[in-house]
Amino acid sequence: MKQTPYLKPWAGRFNEPTDVFVEAFTASVDWDKRLYSQDIQGSIAHATMLAQQGILSTYERDAIINGLQRIKERIEQGTFQWSPSLEDVHMNIEAALIQDIGDIGKKLHTGRSRNDQVATDIRLYLREEIGLIREEIRLLRLALLDLATEEVATIMPGFTHLQTAQPITFGYHLMAWQAMLARDDERLLDCSKRLNQSPLGAAALAGTSYPIDRDYTASLLGFTGPTNNGLDTVSDRDFAIEFTAVSSIIMLHLSRYAEELILWSSQQFNFIQLADSFCTGSSIMPQKKNPDVPELIRGKSGRVFGHLMALLTLMKGQPLAYNRDNQEDKEPLFDTVDTLKSCLHVFAALIPELQANRENMYAAAQRGHATATDLADYLVKRGIPFRDAHKIVGQAVAHAERNDIDLAALDLAVLQGFSPLIQEDVLQILTLEGSIAARNHVGGTAPQQVQEAIAHVRKQIGG
Ligand code: ARG
Repeated sequence: MKQTPYLKPWAGRFNEPTDVFVEAFTASVDWDKRLYSQDIQGSIAHATMLAQQGILSTYERDAIINGLQRIKERIEQGTFQWSPSLEDVHMNIEAALIQDIGDIGKKLHTGRSRNDQVATDIRLYLREEIGLIREEIRLLRLALLDLATEEVATIMPGFTHLQTAQPITFGYHLMAWQAMLARDDERLLDCSKRLNQSPLGAAALAGTSYPIDRDYTASLLGFTGPTNNGLDTVSDRDFAIEFTAVSSIIMLHLSRYAEELILWSSQQFNFIQLADSFCTGSSIMPQKKNPDVPELIRGKSGRVFGHLMALLTLMKGQPLAYNRDNQEDKEPLFDTVDTLKSCLHVFAALIPELQANRENMYAAAQRGHATATDLADYLVKRGIPFRDAHKIVGQAVAHAERNDIDLAALDLAVLQGFSPLIQEDVLQILTLEGSIAARNHVGGTAPQQVQEAIAHVRKQIGG
């Protein structure tokens, strides 16, 4: 019988060492070492529970906990030697513990498996990251509220089909972005509530024969309680998929904002100016100032959507319970977290630096007969059925188009030619200011409503 390889904890039944290439192929420590602090946190809770239940002595518990804390310090000081031949973060830390405190270290894995261990680590990690991401979202929302306050009366065209539809204010538009983020934040909160359950005790798949106290480990780790079925627990990555799905929606929102910033900063729109510090130039065209930051945010949405697809595909063919496929969940998850955080962060920094070209926005709103609906509404209020009013105004718009002026600029006498019900008071109705002020109900574009919406959100998120 050949000697079993020394270091690997699972090597008892093996007669040959792992193939060198297979060792590299199966190792995940290069990236899952990122979970070291959650892994140690989970192990400390597990050892504490084992001692409470009389499975470990208090002496053994203390030796293990102190050893784990020393390992944590070494990792944080950069003196810890990670070894790919020990596969992953869990076995690296366990082996170091055994090396440090001897045989007592071998007792830590009592009543536990890497299957419930890794599930615990990822949940702890995501719970923490979701908290940080929610704070980034809050900062971005506050930046939007500040800019919306400044631009509450800045008139611009509102679009449907990217065609001028009705006048709105820039503040109103920014509050639309804010509303999307409010939903995103709720989704994150919901996801973090659902993932906040402790897998520890599920062990490999079926639970363990030791008299463990799952409620105790759950409470030590700040979980609301233990998960239910062990088989489900070790194979469940729904929470990671759900998080990546929520992240994809957030990236989708950021990408849409980015697209608008790119359009608006073009010479064709010229609605806004991005700060020089958020743009770059061209190596050949001296006049260029390119909106690289929004372009990259728009571009990075692609990788997050890709990660969602990767995780869905990773899980779809897996029979219960744990399969090694699951090790592939880490890189997409980590990159989703990193990408999302950096995009939210740079967006929140870019918003306060943004300059609105108010005159250009106003001038654009004066083109495209933006107050045509207001004229139709005016006629309806004087007794004309809406469909007839729509037709009358359509004819007036066609006349204005032929004469190359805006509907609102037509003479009263010309307008009266389309309906005798039109009186002088129509002129106020047809102005951009009149149109906006008229939409004075909850959710409308009137500055008073936008101010109230801003105050309402401020109350909820502070600032
Ligand atoms: N590195 C593994 C992962 O990320 C840990 C769990 C390994 N469990 C096992 N039975 N091989 O999923």
